Amino acid sequence: MELFGVETDLVRPGDDLAEVILRGMEKAGLRLADGDVLVVAVSAVATAEGGIVDLSLVTPGDQARELAEMYDKDAREMELIIRSSDRIIGGIPGVVLTIKDGFLYPNGGIDHSNAPPGHVVLFPRDPGRSAAELRKRLEEASDKRIGVIVGDSRTHPLRLGCVGVALACDGIVPVEDARGQKDLFGRPLMITRKAVADNLVSAAEVVMGEGDEGIPAVIIRGAPVRLADDGEDMRIPNIPPEECMYIGSLRCGPHPYQGGYDRLIEEAAEAMERSYAPYSGFRVGAAILARDGKVYSAANVENASSGASICAERAALAKAVSEGSREFEALAVVAETEEPVAPCGICRQNLIEFGDEIKVIMANVRGDAEIATVGELLPRGFTRRSLMTGPSDGI
Ligand code: THU
Repeated sequence: MELFGVETDLVRPGDDLAEVILRGMEKAGLRLADGDVLVVAVSAVATAEGGIVDLSLVTPGDQARELAEMYDKDAREMELIIRSSDRIIGGIPGVVLTIKDGFLYPNGGIDHSNAPPGHVVLFPRDPGRSAAELRKRLEEASDKRIGVIVGDSRTHPLRLGCVGVALACDGIVPVEDARGQKDLFGRPLMITRKAVADNLVSAAEVVMGEGDEGIPAVIIRGAPVRLADDGEDMRIPNIPPEECMYIGSLRCGPHPYQGGYDRLIEEAAEAMERSYAPYSGFRVGAAILARDGKVYSAANVENASSGASICAERAALAKAVSEGSREFEALAVVAETEEPVAPCGICRQNLIEFGDEIKVIMANVRGDAEIATVGELLPRGFTRRSLMTGPSDGI
């Protein structure tokens, strides 16, 4: 395998990136060959498409201000991160970890390196389309069949230093299924899939560097990749968070609520108005969304014998189950509290009976909200699985 860095002029907003790369190749006397893979840095793609934002023009909202304080970040940048991501799952001072279209991104894919001072580079609008467009242009110019990968840098958990990751590709198959192949001792490999595109970006990054090298693209020749057939799926495959070894083992909600269940929160707030709480005066409403789309809401119902009171969440759940629903997507709970209200232990126990992936949106009437799965709210819970393993013989 051979790698050729393509040195170019500094990429500017509005540049024709294919043109910039072709000019760089010409200057260095580089020509594309059939089967070449061109890795191009995401910062170059985003910059060329004009995704550079002057932070002084961004007005942060309340949530951005709050999260910026929590994670020690610029509130304007946080505003862009919220807009760019589907979910913020946590963070450390200076960086938040986000999920966007099923992939993990630091800071929602928004980058301040390789951007002018006071500016950030946004995530490209559609990296898959950019890869396809670049491939089309370069194939036309060279009359060769190539692959294009839009690459970015990442760190592995607990490791210092960046490796490469493919954000999108075109013309090649990004992940090769090696299941069924044999290991050194003849045993079949069970779950091995080779992230070919990621590996190629890592190789390219050895040449590309991370800073002012001025090499936004690398040609890889002789890479053992499979060129995609016409119509073949070239999207980078992902797995759900609960199946991911890293994210699945770090269940640590609640997370800031970023929308998606506003109607459910409203229904919970409406149910709260029907609360029967003459003893505590603490009004709570809950609404549970079944997988079939049905919503059941309830309020807390107190009793002179205080232990006989029932919480809103359990009342909503009981209502839903007795109407025939067994599978749930989410439950919203609302109270007139300073902080979003969280379900009590008994309610968590009742909810986990129906699945640890049910989302719980904890809210207050002021509009603050947080979200967590039931599993995050009740780690190491006692469930039917615990019963199945049976009592030990020891006692
Ligand atoms: N309560 C709920 O309905 N849900 C919660 O998550 C917390 C507590 C109710 C029970 C009781 O009626 C009142 O709030 C005070 O404990």
